[in-house]
Amino acid sequence: MSFIDSHCHINFHELSENITGVLATMQQNEVLAALCVSVNLADFPQVLSLAEQYPHIYASVGVHPDYENVEEPTVAQLVALARHPKIIAIGETGLDYYRLTGDLDWQRERFRTHIRASRECGKPLIIHTRSAAEDTLRLMVEEGADQVGGVMHCFTENRAVAQAALDLGFYISFSGIVTFKNALQIKEVAKFVPLDRLLIETDSPYLAPVPYRGKLNQPAYVKHVAEEIALLRGVSVEEVARQTRANFNKLFQLFV
Ligand code: NI
Repeated sequence: MSFIDSHCHINFHELSENITGVLATMQQNEVLAALCVSVNLADFPQVLSLAEQYPHIYASVGVHPDYENVEEPTVAQLVALARHPKIIAIGETGLDYYRLTGDLDWQRERFRTHIRASRECGKPLIIHTRSAAEDTLRLMVEEGADQVGGVMHCFTENRAVAQAALDLGFYISFSGIVTFKNALQIKEVAKFVPLDRLLIETDSPYLAPVPYRGKLNQPAYVKHVAEEIALLRGVSVEEVARQTRANFNKLFQLFV
């Protein structure tokens, strides 16, 4: 049995300062590979260097919607940086009306830039959406995100939003939140999403799953996400592991 963590931030100092230990624990827990997701351009060189250094670490390029006063990427810049073979996705991008308020036109513009870059380079999108589902879906439709596809990461929306994203050809990824006792809506959605459209992730160093809730998260813990989804759906953990690995390979055109 083996797992893939489809979304982590092992370049963040909490994890990068102990990268050897983090990778060893991954291996002990049969986590085969991980996608290290960029959040801004300044830290992109570190993200890329992890992917270049370790064969089973992949990476993305993008600027997260929560980073307000940072270098704004252009389509051409994202496309150029995505040309590297270990850069397998554009993101994370999207909208977040929870962390930031006020005039967020810049956030929507930035999201459009990422969708355009994704379409141009043919690499899928990693989308973050929080308290902004309606606008997120609207921009995805307006910019033709369905033509390239991708993943709605750390999914916390309802079933209708999941269905709309599935209709656009997107995968739905669940984080450790699905293991939290009070996350009833997310547990419902995790039962509803077809198994061949589902991914698992840690979003580490944040959001550690039960039994590590509140502690430092790491890619090795993605198996606890798989275990919860298996339990909810009444299938074996092996089945969830096998299918989410196949989904990851299909979406990112890999053979991990
Ligand atoms: Ni993230």
